[in-house]
Amino acid sequence: MDFHAASMIVLFSLIALTCAEPVKFADCGSDVGKVVIVDIQPCPKQPCELHKGQAYAVNVTFDSAVESQTSKAIVHGVIAGVPIPFPIPIEDGCKSGIECPIQKAQSYHYVTQLPVKSEYPSMLIKWELRDDTGKDLFCIKFPVQIVN
Ligand SMILES: *[C@@H]1O[C@H](CO)[C@@H](O)[C@H](O)[C@H]1NC(C)=O
Repeated sequence: MDFHAASMIVLFSLIALTCAEPVKFADCGSDVGKVVIVDIQPCPKQPCELHKGQAYAVNVTFDSAVESQTSKAIVHGVIAGVPIPFPIPIEDGCKSGIECPIQKAQSYHYVTQLPVKSEYPSMLIKWELRDDTGKDLFCIKFPVQIVN
């Protein structure tokens, strides 16, 4: 193996180690926005393995198609097809990395914490961020594995 090939391998291994791949999500009806990328840290493999008692950094990058003074996050854990409210510490999107009022045709990073309590089972997470009128700036669904 020549030096160039070897250094490329080192480079790609470094990239793989430092940036985990984006979370694979399903869009569940982002009416007035478009999701660009969903990132959860740490989540080295998918579905994300969430350890009980730990908190995870969630970062959803989306484009808004509307103006909105407010934004409110609504999270559900879907267990056996039944959506159950999943409490998060900060529901206000404007206090989660988004500078409000939200402008039309702007890109935003919604950044918050997801604490995992010990009583949670593995589930599908449905995460919405609603605008002033209750429409979804984004709605994403992704599975998580809860581990000890
Ligand atoms: C959120 O993700 C975007 C896109 O990957 C990145 O540019 C931004 O720095 C991230 N923000 C935080 C706080 O991690």
